[in-house]
Amino acid sequence: MDSRLRAHLLAIEPSDEEFVDGLFGFVLRRDADTEARERALAKLAEGTLSRATLLEELVTSNEFIRVRQLDDAVAFGRGARDRGERPRRLEGPPATDERVVEIPWVLARLRSGRVLEVGYAFAEPAYVAGLLEAAPRELVGLDLAQGAVPGMETVQGDVRELPFPAADFDQVLLVSTLEHVGADNERYGVEGVADGGGMRAALREVRRVLRADGSLLVTVPLGEPEDYGWFRQEDVRGWTRLFTHAGFFVEEQEVYELTADGWHAAPTFEAAGVRYGERGPAAGAVLCVELSPNRLRRWVSLDGLKRTARRKAGPTWHRLRPLDS
Ligand SMILES: C[S@@+](CC[C@H](N)C(=O)[O-])C[C@H]1O[C@@H](n2cnc3c(N)ncnc32)[C@H](O)[C@@H]1O
Repeated sequence: MDSRLRAHLLAIEPSDEEFVDGLFGFVLRRDADTEARERALAKLAEGTLSRATLLEELVTSNEFIRVRQLDDAVAFGRGARDRGERPRRLEGPPATDERVVEIPWVLARLRSGRVLEVGYAFAEPAYVAGLLEAAPRELVGLDLAQGAVPGMETVQGDVRELPFPAADFDQVLLVSTLEHVGADNERYGVEGVADGGGMRAALREVRRVLRADGSLLVTVPLGEPEDYGWFRQEDVRGWTRLFTHAGFFVEEQEVYELTADGWHAAPTFEAAGVRYGERGPAAGAVLCVELSPNRLRRWVSLDGLKRTARRKAGPTWHRLRPLDS
């Protein structure tokens, strides 16, 4: 049979219902809402809409732009990790939130052992799917909110009091979550105890459950220090002080800033006057950091000193060396 005829026959094989449901899932990564589904089915039945035109409507929608941005972010992070790269100087599209740089930064640095994701319950599904696809040996999600994710062990709990023994994890991930700890989490439908020292308590707990050679990846909003009620924003100095006071060593850090051209690395970023939500839909800048829990060991062991020297050699090293060298 002619291969084009075979393709046409395949395209008309599913019922209209199957086609519409499948297309929404495949293109927009969600179920069709009732109104759009009924409209599409009625028009397909009366012949005023073709399957190709419905496909075009979905891929040219504003909603698909976001799907594509997140897909690109996940694909980039996954590819970099597979190649053993630690990419820096990422770039992201304009007028977007910080996930477009946080996701690839974190996924590229994801370890393969036992990993704890804190704050997974309201994470972008594309990011959670990216974590699952990367398949660390064990993936555990912890959140004040409850949620089920196939393939991930989920635990409802407070990061300030982790229900895990000491040295239990190879890596902990805090993606846009640390700044919410101890703040008003009503918008997430959860009631955590509000407490000004929440972030310090969280970091102490995370340090306790990390193995000595473990890694903590953190992304946090950056700008003029301010308490927004539902989260806290700090400048680089403020965040770094918090990390080092909790006993962490800053292995790697990068600042990203949102400008009219999009997201880009900003090593000389000035936090003064940068308020959340004023440059785009969310943060105006973000700090991406990898921390290690054992500051002392880093300074007294030969391996630690070598790693420090390499880190100080600058960003190019991170691009050239494989992940675990
Ligand atoms: C902005 S959302 C996290 C975003 C998500 N990590 C992502 O990648 O898009 C903040 C999350 O932190 C959780 N959270 C806030 N305080 C917490 C705490 N003390 N312990 C555990 N989870 C907490 C909230 O329930 C919410 O799911």
